Amino acid sequence: MRLRHRKWSNDVLLDNKDIARNLEDFSPESIATFDNLEIGSGCGGFLLEVCKLHPEEKYLGVEINRNAFAIAVKKASEVKEERKNFLLLNAPIERIFPLIQDHQLNNIYLNFSDPWPKKRQMHRRLSYPTRLKEYLRILKEDGTLYFRTDNASLFEDTIEYFKEVDLYDFTIIEPFYSEKVDYLPPTEYETKFREKGVDIHLLIAKPKKK
Ligand SMILES: C[S@@+](CC[C@H](N)C(=O)[O-])C[C@H]1O[C@@H](n2cnc3c(N)ncnc32)[C@H](O)[C@@H]1O
Repeated sequence: MRLRHRKWSNDVLLDNKDIARNLEDFSPESIATFDNLEIGSGCGGFLLEVCKLHPEEKYLGVEINRNAFAIAVKKASEVKEERKNFLLLNAPIERIFPLIQDHQLNNIYLNFSDPWPKKRQMHRRLSYPTRLKEYLRILKEDGTLYFRTDNASLFEDTIEYFKEVDLYDFTIIEPFYSEKVDYLPPTEYETKFREKGVDIHLLIAKPKKK
C-alpha cells in the first residue's frame, strides 16, 4: 500500500513532538525505558489499541516510512491525552536495535511485515534468521514474539527460519481472528485483508528455556 505525502504532515509532526520523534530529535537513552516494541508500526492502529490494554507498560512503535508515520501521529494526537504510555519513532529499526538493552522487552510485535519475495532481498525480512537472533537478545527470557501476516509464502518461510535457528518454542494459529482474542488488536493491514476474505496467520514464539 503506497501512501502519499499529506499536506498536513509537517504541522502534525511539529505539533506532536511529545509522542512522535525522528532520528534527529529523539533521546537514545529513552529507548531503554520501553517494555514493548512494534517494528513497522505503519498507521499506528495496533499500537494505539494495545497500549490502551496495558496502561502500566510502555510501547514503542518504529516505522521507517514517513507518510505512514505521519498518519499514525495524527491518529495518536487524538488520543494522547488519555494514553500516555507510547512513543512513535520514524526510523529504520536497524538504527534502534543497538539502543535496546539485553532482555529488555516483554513483547515484540511484527505485524504484516513486508514480504520481500525476491530471493536476493529475503535477508531484509523482519523474520529472517539474523533478526530472530537479535530478537532473542532483546527479549526477556519469558518474553513473547508475535508474527502476523496474510502472506502464506512468507509465513511458511518464517516457520522454517524459526526451525533453523532453534532458539524459540512456537505455536501457530491459522486462521487467526483478532476479534476472538483480547491480546492482539487488529492492524490497518489486517482489517483490509479480512475484508477481502484473506486468511491471517499468526506465530507466537517464546525463547527456549535454558
Ligand atoms: C506492510 S506494512 C504493515 C503496517 C502495519 N504493521 C499494519 O499491519 O497495518 C509494513 C510496514 O513496515 C515498515 N517497515 C519495513 N521495514 C522496516 C524497518 N526496517 N524499520 C522500520 N519499519 C519498517 C514499512 O514501512 C511498512 O509501513
